[in-house]
Amino acid sequence: MAEQNSIHGLWRSRWLFILAASGSAVGLGNIWKFPYITGENGGGAFVLMYLVCIALIGVPVMLAEIMLGRLGRQSPINTMRAIAKDQGASALWSGIGWMGALAGFLILSFYSVIAGWALAYIFRMAGGVFDGITAQGASDVFSGLVGNPETLLAWHSIFMVLTIAVVARGVNQGLEKAIKVLMPMLFVLLMIMLGYAFTSDGFSQGLSFLFSFDFSKLTSESLVIAMGHSFFTLSLGLGAIMAYGAYMPHTVSIGKTVVIVAALDTFVALVAGMAIFPIVFANGLEPSSGPGLLFQTLPLAFSQMPAGDFFGTLFFILVAFAAWSSSISLAEPIVAWAVESIGVSRTNAATWVGVAAWLLGLGTIFSFNIWSDVTLFDKTIFDTLDFLTTNILLPLGGLFIAIFVGWIMRKKDVAKEVKMTNPMLYKVWFVILKFIAPLGVLAVLINGLL
Ligand code: TRP
Repeated sequence: MAEQNSIHGLWRSRWLFILAASGSAVGLGNIWKFPYITGENGGGAFVLMYLVCIALIGVPVMLAEIMLGRLGRQSPINTMRAIAKDQGASALWSGIGWMGALAGFLILSFYSVIAGWALAYIFRMAGGVFDGITAQGASDVFSGLVGNPETLLAWHSIFMVLTIAVVARGVNQGLEKAIKVLMPMLFVLLMIMLGYAFTSDGFSQGLSFLFSFDFSKLTSESLVIAMGHSFFTLSLGLGAIMAYGAYMPHTVSIGKTVVIVAALDTFVALVAGMAIFPIVFANGLEPSSGPGLLFQTLPLAFSQMPAGDFFGTLFFILVAFAAWSSSISLAEPIVAWAVESIGVSRTNAATWVGVAAWLLGLGTIFSFNIWSDVTLFDKTIFDTLDFLTTNILLPLGGLFIAIFVGWIMRKKDVAKEVKMTNPMLYKVWFVILKFIAPLGVLAVLINGLL
């Protein structure tokens, strides 16, 4: 394909690409979701499966996704169509882009609601609500929040506006600058939390929960969840990272970048787990308490720490920022497509996507209160959206990406774009894309869903 640049602009340096990609990857998935699904799925064996999925499927698929994006230089839908045409393959491959745009939209609708919880907690922390609180008190504060649809709606609306504001301006303006400062701060604060957890009575119990493998607790459904989460946490399978790859300068090595982003992302998740579980055990809380886990454990820790209100406030500000730099990448594929193909302005495209996702978000809000007993196969609307996107659409997206790059594309075009210098690593990557990733995804899905 002819060398071209993206109409949406390019990242100004390799460092900025890494920042944007890790900003997308590190989010609620790491700090909120990973600990709570680990708790629900019995701990160590689940963590191990998640790590295996990251290394064996996540990293190779991420490389493939970024490569496709940089080759196509457009929104995932148009990138896939153009590359398929160039490679003499069916235009149906653009379906990867369509499925991804849909998944991004669905995820955005519930992601914004949960990010709204973090926003609400900034103010509860700052207002001293958690001073000297008990475990029961902390869990009451949480139930009070999610039980109130109006409050959730207000925070969901604010978060959606923040997301749309950034996407409308284009990704390099503003957020790049903010996350440059805020991501390092998040790391520092997580380390402080870890230090606190280290001194708590539950530390060894927390660690052994996370890292001792009891395979009897592993069900085929938890395997599906571990695999789905490895896609979710790395922002894979829906074209988010493909869209970011489209803005990547040609001077950057994709391989090295991918390893850095995946390592950072995994590190944050593990530290979050190590900070949270000791508090769970020291206070007699339930590891399996579900989506509220982060919001019930950390306030407890902060309430017992010197200057806890201050650190707690800062912590939830940073969680909100981590969520913000992720949510923009959920909207980017579909917004970029609308700009290219419908010819609307970025502002209009972002606004309409935001309004639609905001509306659908009501379903998630009500899942925690007035519609909490409206269920399908025992799942609320939130659970259903989460399961469908994370555990089905993302792995399927990854599966098709692996097949497309491994089987459909001309080898020389792939090699030219990834420019891996180590021939051995390149071979391994290719074998994984051709066989291991597709078979792994299929095996887990078939085994878990049927
Ligand atoms: N990775 C983000 C997190 O862990 C969520 C996210 C952002 C995402 N963009 C994505 C998930 C694209 C899947 C696909 O919170």
